[in-house]
Amino acid sequence: MSAHRRTLLSVVGARPNFMKLAPLVWQLARRPDVRHVIVHTGQHYDANMSDAFFTNLGVPDPDCTLGVGSGSHAVQTATIMQRFEAICTETHPDCVVLYGDVNSTLAAALVAAKLRIPVAHVEAGLRSRDRAMPEEINRIVTDQLSDILFTPSRDADANLRAEGIPADRIQFVGNIMIDSLERLLPDALRAHAAARRGLTAHEYVVVTLHRPSNVDDLPTLRGLLEALGKVSELAPVCFAVHPRTRVRIRDAGLELSPRLLLEDPLPYTEMLSLVHSAGVVLTDSGGLQEETTYLGVPCLTVRPNTERPVTITAGTNRLIAPTGASVLQGVRAALDAPRPARPVIERWDGHAAERIAAVLCDTEIAMS
Ligand code: UD1
Repeated sequence: MSAHRRTLLSVVGARPNFMKLAPLVWQLARRPDVRHVIVHTGQHYDANMSDAFFTNLGVPDPDCTLGVGSGSHAVQTATIMQRFEAICTETHPDCVVLYGDVNSTLAAALVAAKLRIPVAHVEAGLRSRDRAMPEEINRIVTDQLSDILFTPSRDADANLRAEGIPADRIQFVGNIMIDSLERLLPDALRAHAAARRGLTAHEYVVVTLHRPSNVDDLPTLRGLLEALGKVSELAPVCFAVHPRTRVRIRDAGLELSPRLLLEDPLPYTEMLSLVHSAGVVLTDSGGLQEETTYLGVPCLTVRPNTERPVTITAGTNRLIAPTGASVLQGVRAALDAPRPARPVIERWDGHAAERIAAVLCDTEIAMS
């Protein structure tokens, strides 16, 4: 007989999942009555996209890895589904816990729902209303299949209700990523990532770009890279290059300005340290929109829409077009403007994982 009252099975696979998993791992470590199984699909497999985050965030190695690697959306999703089904039938979880909007999230939701295992979705309810984004499709389907929907913001609750999700399945717990940020910010401040690169606080630009809409379309990517070259004449530019973007640049034989400070994907604390002191962040990442908002750092998001509208209303984030003129004008304006006040957003307070753990460990989990 197992001494555990309940088995929770978390599924992660891609970089943005890991900082959402970590705070729940820390909480569940205090609950000897709950068994927490961690499955890593292997969607991200480079050491600096995956292992470095487990180490940095103090998350133990996964109990199980599925080793799916890269592939088309259908291949990646289907391979995860096949391999994850076997894990579910062996493990008999009481609930499968999913994070964010990546292909690993969708694949695991489909498997668990069909096996009639309750599904909990952390970061439910975000909507860009743009189905050209694979993540939007992943969010919509995962939320429809979930039994417990943990939302980061009130707009997410409204989105779910508008899609007919019963109110008793929605739990407004706040933003779990902020739990990771709060916990690791002291380490980040001690890391002095800017000073080690010879950068002056508030006078440099941090860049990340990886969305298919920006990097898979050659004219768009070329225009953005040329714009970064021009921005680097205004202020130092630190560009952490995602593997997808690196492949596209290499395959197209594009030239990068020698003034750009190029980095491989950075460990969580190192990135947090750089972002904290940046003059402006130029990105198409979801997480960075939230992290900059929490820290009160100006952010320019190179996208036509965002599923995170609170970052806009808080005054830290602005959407810009993927053109040289918008990038240059946006960076110049952000560097010249007074720094935004650090906003306070409801339940972005470092306690989201406590609220999630209370629901997952101590309440009856009902299937819809
Ligand atoms: C995925 C997520 C995206 C998230 C992003 C964060 C989906 C649909 N997309 O996009 O929401 O913002 O992760 O990084 O799930 N690659 C490597 N090494 C790796 C991982 C990827 O070289 O460890 C390269 C491969 O060439 C691969 C490409 O990056 O084909 C894309 O990887 P994939 O996981 O398919 O999507 P991302 O673009 O990373």
